[in-house]
Amino acid sequence: MTSPRNILVLHGPNLNLLGSREPKHYGLATLESINQRLVQRALQAGVVLAHYQSNVEGELVNRIQQAARDGVDFIIINPAAYTHTSIAMRDALAAVAIPFVEVHLSNVYAREKFRHKSYFTDLAVGIVSGFGGKGYELALEYALQSTANGGDT
Ligand code: DQA
Repeated sequence: MTSPRNILVLHGPNLNLLGSREPKHYGLATLESINQRLVQRALQAGVVLAHYQSNVEGELVNRIQQAARDGVDFIIINPAAYTHTSIAMRDALAAVAIPFVEVHLSNVYAREKFRHKSYFTDLAVGIVSGFGGKGYELALEYALQSTANGGDT
């Protein structure tokens, strides 16, 4: 069993606004700076890392399906508001059966009740929530150390 070599980071709706969007919840880091750090770390580890953001549910579903064709072996995903609504994205992740970590910048469990429900968590290898942009880096560190089937590090 080998560590993931081909990682996809997916960002859901409104995350393109990071840096200016509700900084008390999401911090001041821009999506570009978060992605840059992930790309750098992946490069250092000799791993291919692609990232994709969309505000459109169907586009995210398409990107998850494409991940299987591209040979992606680990996904880091912040489904943003679709966390709480999207059976379509959940089904896509179940269909491709690629292990994934669910990331949220804010601590969703310290916020409104509607954010406590996730359509993803029970399928995820794990969840990182409440550490701002660092959460993606923590998820990547896990991915770099984990086995491709989502097993123990
Ligand atoms: C979020 C939390 C969601 O509830 C919210 O809709 C988002 C971002 C987070 O990263 O904290 O857009 O996923």
